[in-house]
Amino acid sequence: MRIEIAKNKVFLKLPKKKLEIHPLWLRERARLNSLHDKNTDQRLYDPSELNTNLKIKKASISNGHLNINFNDGIKFDYEIKELFYELNKNLPYENPIFWSSKLKNIPKTNFRDHMFDTINMYDLLQNFYKYGFVIIKNTPDDEDFLVKFANSIGTVRPTNFGTTFNVRSEKNYNDLAYTDHHIAAHTDNPYRKPVPCIQLLHCIYNEVKGGFSTVVDGFAVAEYLRKKHKDLFNILSSTKVRFRFVDKDIILENWGEIIELDDNRKPKQIRHSPRLDYVPILEKKQLEKFYQARRLFSKLCASKKFELKFKLEVGDIIMFDNYRTLHGRTSFSKSEGKRFLKGCYIDHDSTEGRLRFLERKFNLKWKK
Ligand code: OGA
Ligand code: ZN
Repeated sequence: MRIEIAKNKVFLKLPKKKLEIHPLWLRERARLNSLHDKNTDQRLYDPSELNTNLKIKKASISNGHLNINFNDGIKFDYEIKELFYELNKNLPYENPIFWSSKLKNIPKTNFRDHMFDTINMYDLLQNFYKYGFVIIKNTPDDEDFLVKFANSIGTVRPTNFGTTFNVRSEKNYNDLAYTDHHIAAHTDNPYRKPVPCIQLLHCIYNEVKGGFSTVVDGFAVAEYLRKKHKDLFNILSSTKVRFRFVDKDIILENWGEIIELDDNRKPKQIRHSPRLDYVPILEKKQLEKFYQARRLFSKLCASKKFELKFKLEVGDIIMFDNYRTLHGRTSFSKSEGKRFLKGCYIDHDSTEGRLRFLERKFNLKWKK
């Protein structure tokens, strides 16, 4: 890929084609202080008002820079590297690595004070995207810490459960998470619009014998289904299910596929919460297939092949992608002691935004 100039026209030379770059495309990227606010980099004008017949009067290239003189009097020196960035549609993280229960090293990192602007944070977030979860060890075990931690990556997203929620066995509860029941693998809140992207759970007490945490790579299970049971994969990725939450103050509903695919038919979002899903009435044969598929999905999530099981220790924070990683817990007996996890949600633009910031700060380029 390179930039070429011929007769006051600028061309982008790609391996298989060459295209002329529109003068307006360049002009609206001329970041002169008179045109762009220097604090925010935002344009001080509306580029729709530029002369549609704008031409390039003079162009030259030297030392990785493209120098343009437009016929409206604006001159700008572009860093060619920056122009190429505009062509890059990659997300700021590496491709996911799908895993099963054989995953050798659980992605873990030790908490350090002031880690948010460091390369450790960059590695932590890359691991989060690679595996769909990460455990942060040895954080302070005070109840207020989680919000500080989450807000240092991005911004906590409050819900009707509050800014944070207390996962412990309660007398009055509006979700089975707040009991000592076993909770099968699920994604949180598929009934919300939008569904919370990332969940964090901070272990404050875990004195009980049970209460093990479970996690499953939902994308790995989806790919397994696609390979081994295409028809079941097809029905889970094409049937929109209603998810519903009811308590005394609110009724929340949203619809979506258990396996949602992107435009390239890769898994994009898993929604699985067998406590609160309601499939629409379909032809009996189709429903038969749907039930078979959902049964197998749940079974695989609870299987030795896919389920990772471990006990959270006091001071651990588990942070997982609620669009990919399912989580659950084994039952426990509250008579044995306290079990208390503090929870909250953040969005994907928190983690993506921080990754881009750290990438700029440390001048990093991720591999693809
Ligand atoms: C939750 C949940 C699991 C646990 O709060 O969403 O599923 O380990 N909790 O208690
Ligand atoms: Zn949950």
